[in-house]
Amino acid sequence: MLSKIQTGLEAVPGNWWRPAHKAEKVWVAIAFAWCMVLFAMMPLWHFRGGQNPSGIRRRVDPKAYYARTLAFAAQYKVGDDRGVPIVQPPPGADIYLVGLTYQWFPILRLQRDKEYILHLSSLDVNHGFSLFPVNVNFQIVPGYDYALRVTPNAAGDFRIICNEFCGIGHHTMVGRVIVVDESGTPIADNAKAAVKSGDQP
Ligand code: CUA
Repeated sequence: MLSKIQTGLEAVPGNWWRPAHKAEKVWVAIAFAWCMVLFAMMPLWHFRGGQNPSGIRRRVDPKAYYARTLAFAAQYKVGDDRGVPIVQPPPGADIYLVGLTYQWFPILRLQRDKEYILHLSSLDVNHGFSLFPVNVNFQIVPGYDYALRVTPNAAGDFRIICNEFCGIGHHTMVGRVIVVDESGTPIADNAKAAVKSGDQP
């Protein structure tokens, strides 16, 4: 049996033409006001949020960036963790970190409460810089030197996790940042730690 065909000449069944109840109008007004608050937060947070990156960025040839990073690592190398140099630059220095499939190079050892200019770039594909367990996240893009003014405010032995899927070894792409306190000794030094398969980083 053919069901009834609705045409624009007949009102659809229902009560949509009746004026909205007061409660509904109030609800719409509250929702709209809240939308405006959230909308205003976007520009407000840009100026007042304090979480904005310093945004120093320029194009860079990946080979040139890698050469700069190698020179930086050789200049300030103080140790070694399974073949990756541990690098301790002086406070205020430009420091370099490179992401490549599937590692972070080098290991940075920084001083708490000192400012550094951290340069980030990739040699191949997009990677994600994610400082663990601190929630700090940045895109690492090949061909761009992205620099941030950073002041570590907590000593510890932190991990850098890649949070951008970059290939089959993505989950193994883990780096280290060691922040030492005023005495200069790291809170923990895992350089000699043995890693068993199945261990969580
Ligand atoms: Cu690098 Cu995922």
